Parts: sequence; C-alpha cells; structure tokens
Amino acid sequence: SWTPDNIIDDQVEAIRARVGDKEVICGLSGGVDSAVAAALVHKAVGDQLTCVFVDHGLLRAGEAEQVEKDYVAATGVKLKVVDAADRFLAALDGVTDPEQKRKIIGREFIRVFEQAAREVAASGDVEFLVQGTLYPDVVESGGGTGTANIKSHHNVGGLPEDLKFALVEPLRTLFKDEVRTIGHALGLPEAMVWRHPFPGPGLAIRIIGAVDRDRLDILRAADLIAREELTAAGLDRDVWQFPVVLLADVRSVGVQGDGRTYGHPVVLRPVSSEDAMTADWSRLPYDVITRISTRITNEVREVNRVVLDVTSKPPGTIEWE
Ligand code: XMP
Repeated sequence: SWTPDNIIDDQVEAIRARVGDKEVICGLSGGVDSAVAAALVHKAVGDQLTCVFVDHGLLRAGEAEQVEKDYVAATGVKLKVVDAADRFLAALDGVTDPEQKRKIIGREFIRVFEQAAREVAASGDVEFLVQGTLYPDVVESGGGTGTANIKSHHNVGGLPEDLKFALVEPLRTLFKDEVRTIGHALGLPEAMVWRHPFPGPGLAIRIIGAVDRDRLDILRAADLIAREELTAAGLDRDVWQFPVVLLADVRSVGVQGDGRTYGHPVVLRPVSSEDAMTADWSRLPYDVITRISTRITNEVREVNRVVLDVTSKPPGTIEWE
C-alpha cells in the first residue's frame, strides 16, 4: 500500500543498488522536487552526494537562506553554494525581452553549474546526477530515460559531452502531492514542501523592463508582503501560484501625506489551476487583497499603486513574461 514510508524505503533501496559506491551530484533550485529528490538520495548514500545550489540572485526573499540553512539543517546534505548573482545581473543588464532574459539565464545557469560540477567531479568519482523528474514530466516527454540534461527547470539544453552523468530520478513514478507528502515525512522545511511553483528564471520575468538590484529589492519586498498575507489568511493551498509583478517602466501619480508621488505599480496575479496549462484568477477575499495593497503601498516606498490581474489563462498566461 502507498505510504510515504514505503515509498521512501523502496527508493532508498533502489538508489543504493544503482549508485553503489560512486559519487552523485544534484542541483538544488529551492523548489520541492529537487529538494525531495536530493533528500532521498542523501538518505540512501549520505555524503556520496554533493548538492550544488546556484544562487542566481533572482529568488524571492528568504529562499536562498531556506536552501542554505533550513534545508541543510533538516537533511544534513553536503552543499556547495555558488553565489552567482553579480554574474547573472551583469549578463541581464539592460535586457527587456522576455525570451532573451530566459536565454541568458539558462545559458549562465548551465555555465555556472558546469563549473561547479567540474569542481565536484575533480574530487571524486562522480557518475550520477539527480533530477527531480515527476511522473507527469515523464509522460510529457514520452517516457524515455535520458542521460544528463538539465531540462525544463532552467530551459537549458544540457551539459557538455565530457560531463555527461547517468541520471538518478527517484520521483519518476510520483505526482506532486505525493512528493510533498514524502518531503513532509523526510522532515524538510514546511515552506519548501508547500512552496508554489516558481519559474526557473525567477523574479527576472516578473520585472517588466530591465532587471537590476534595486528593482529586485522592490519586487522582493512587495512579493514577501503578498506571501505573508496569503499565509496569514490560511489560503496558501487554495492558490496554485501567486506571482507579484513589478511594472518597472511604468509610473503613475499618487498622493501620500501632502506629497505627490510618482511611483511604480505592482500587479497581483493569484491564480487557481490544476496543471498550469489553464488557469483562472483566484477570487481572494477582498479584505486579504486590501491588506496586501495597504501594506505594499505603506511599506514599499517606490510602489504607489497595486492592481489585480483578473484575466484567465487563456488568453493570459500565468506569468507576465
Ligand atoms: P505561463 O506563464 O506560461 O506559465 O502560464 C505556466 C507555468 O510555467 C511556469 N513558467 C516557467 N517555469 N521556466 C520555468 O521553469 C520558465 O521560463 C517559465 N515560464 C513560466 C509558470 O510559473 C507557470 O507555473
């Protein structure tokens, strides 16, 4: 019968049989899939696993710390952190086109990850790469097992020929809700287990306009308020995703105290969905929206207007870019 403990035991056994005494690497993104996959592998082969976290500087408030501190404390994995924010920001400098942003982020990600993987591989006999592929991903891609290719998450092609690893995919038979159940049973941080889907290119595609540190800080502050209020209202699991989008090139006039302001709008984009293919805007209670709006305009100086996206998908996408 399906219990989290059965699945964990079966996977641990299968991973041990496959990996033997070889070394394994795993890229952590901050998301639940890679976190659970790595935790399973760590349970199976301990320090034969090295996790790599490429911090591209485009995550939301607290998410990098969650990986570096809470996740490591919960699992004991050996973690190599690469702080690559400067590099990503330099590469993104002045770029406004959404697909261009994705290409640049994907390219930089694979370069940084490749470098880190080489460093890990230099110190051991690394034969395997862990990926958090879920059952729906397997079905979608035709069911084949691959060799290393850091697929969907960062929209990148793959590692170079001389750095090909065999894949370990302990979540291949599981659905998302099962992965969360297992993550919970493994004692992973709750915020990670229940994290909403978040795009690989991160906040870069939630800043409409060019990406820079100041804009990221503004968006992070607004996004954190929205997340805090959603959680406080007990609505996290009622919403599929809740992008907060900064219209960085738009300004509108406002008034605060006896002063005129000329600030940026942020868009709230809470959606309900089953699989992200279609979505509807979430009918969040007006008092929750009001609290988010009041707090953002009070606490984030650069933002003087909060708007709600009431478009379904289609025709709108979930993200604005
Ligand atoms: P859209 O905006 O197309 O998004 O309705 C559908 C789902 O995909 C996520 N998304 C991405 N995920 N890299 C990712 O890893 C991307 O470039 C990307 N773009 C969109 C989005 O958050 C939603 O869950």
